[in-house]
Amino acid sequence: MSTSKRQIRLGAFIMATGHHIAAWRHPEAQADAGLNIDHYRELAETAERGKFDLVFVADSPAGWERANDLEAYRRTAQGAHFEPLTLWAALSQATRHIGFVATASTTYEDPYLLARRFASLDYISKGRAAWNVVTTGADVSKNFSIAGHPAHADRYERAEEFVDLVKGLWDSYEDDAFIRDKESGVYLDPDKVHLVNHKGKFFSVAGPLNVGRPVQGYPVIVQAGASEPGRELAARTAEMIFTANQTLDDAQEFYSDVKGRLARYGRRPEDLLISPGIFPVLGGTEAEAEANYEYIQSLVHPSIAWNILARHYRGVDLSGYSLDDPAPPLPGDTELNKSRLKLVSDLVSRNNLTLRQLYLAVATARGHRTVVGTPEQIADAMQTWFENGAADAFNIMPPVLPAGLTDFVDQVVPILRKRGLFRHEYEGATLRENLGLRRPPNGFTLQVQQAQAAV
Ligand SMILES: Cc1cc2nc3c(=O)[nH]c(=O)nc-3n(C[C@H](O)[C@H](O)[C@H](O)COP(=O)(O)O)c2cc1C
Repeated sequence: MSTSKRQIRLGAFIMATGHHIAAWRHPEAQADAGLNIDHYRELAETAERGKFDLVFVADSPAGWERANDLEAYRRTAQGAHFEPLTLWAALSQATRHIGFVATASTTYEDPYLLARRFASLDYISKGRAAWNVVTTGADVSKNFSIAGHPAHADRYERAEEFVDLVKGLWDSYEDDAFIRDKESGVYLDPDKVHLVNHKGKFFSVAGPLNVGRPVQGYPVIVQAGASEPGRELAARTAEMIFTANQTLDDAQEFYSDVKGRLARYGRRPEDLLISPGIFPVLGGTEAEAEANYEYIQSLVHPSIAWNILARHYRGVDLSGYSLDDPAPPLPGDTELNKSRLKLVSDLVSRNNLTLRQLYLAVATARGHRTVVGTPEQIADAMQTWFENGAADAFNIMPPVLPAGLTDFVDQVVPILRKRGLFRHEYEGATLRENLGLRRPPNGFTLQVQQAQAAV
């Protein structure tokens, strides 16, 4: 096998008990997973055993929305879980190779404090940190002493400034700023310490940061929004995009659109890896996989089914409908998650779904691609997208954890390897090296070099 052959990158997208909405009720689920560190350690170790590039947890700075739907509220397992950076700092000590993607919000966090925490995680993990930059679709403003949830466009404007500022803070110290010469008593070179002196629309920050330049230069920047401003933010700043696509056509459109934007920012197509999610329902035979799918879907309680529908039909009265009625059109636009609304609307209109079929379609993985089949069929589904301009990587979204990840590692990974599509060993020491991403130069060093070259 040629070592230069393009290979799939793999992420384990971990949702405590599993991605299926009713996962926690499954006999193989760890019901207290969200607050069980041993469970997460097992998952990180399993992913590393499978030579995955990364583990990833999603996050929102709010509990599950209680609203008035007490019946659904008492049946959902998604409200209580660990803060991602804290979790990954702990698990970096139990692993050696795998990368850690933590989600953090540019709408509800502070750039200085966040830059510090990610730089710390990068040191603690020895260069395995990544930041999933999200603007937070859900309105969680009630937790943050602010008047309300900022509009979609405002959230992205703030995100642009936020990410640039954080990168500036990570550049506070040049890589060789610390001399630490015991003999002379000189600890650092002040010429290599820089202030950002940032004054923008949203933030006013002097710097420097109180952590050295991260091991990877910057932790890997991941982005997960897919609206117009989301794609633009990714094209300018991200190195990996997490995305949800249902069909090959949609995934190809997204892939070529985002890659096509990179040249405008002086970037190459390989500087940004595109990683759609896949929800694999495995079975030894097709019939067994179908039975596993039917079984987990049977665990969705009717109150959860209606709650899922109400979340998609915000502002629409569904009280006159039965589950077997055709799904009415979804709301035309939202200030929350624009790309997901479009994905689900397309799903309904493309397949003429009933309300029952709609809730079942999103109960699996909230709109991510569901593939039900044998390990060979799951590998085929991945290979097709990988080889046809739709994916560089995949976020594997196991239905039930920990079993779903173990099954994938033991049953699908060997097939991908046999086909020359996936690594046998880690290539590098840092997440960046394993993903084949370059280490970014320090912006201040670049400025000095450019000024010297101009003299
Ligand atoms: C795989 C994936 C993971 C995501 N994870 C999070 C998350 O952890 N927290 C969050 O607030 N949003 C998350 N999102 C949502 C996006 O970050 C974004 O807020 C949403 O897509 C709305 O932005 P858009 O309208 O630009 O798409 C995720 C999206 C995808 C596709």
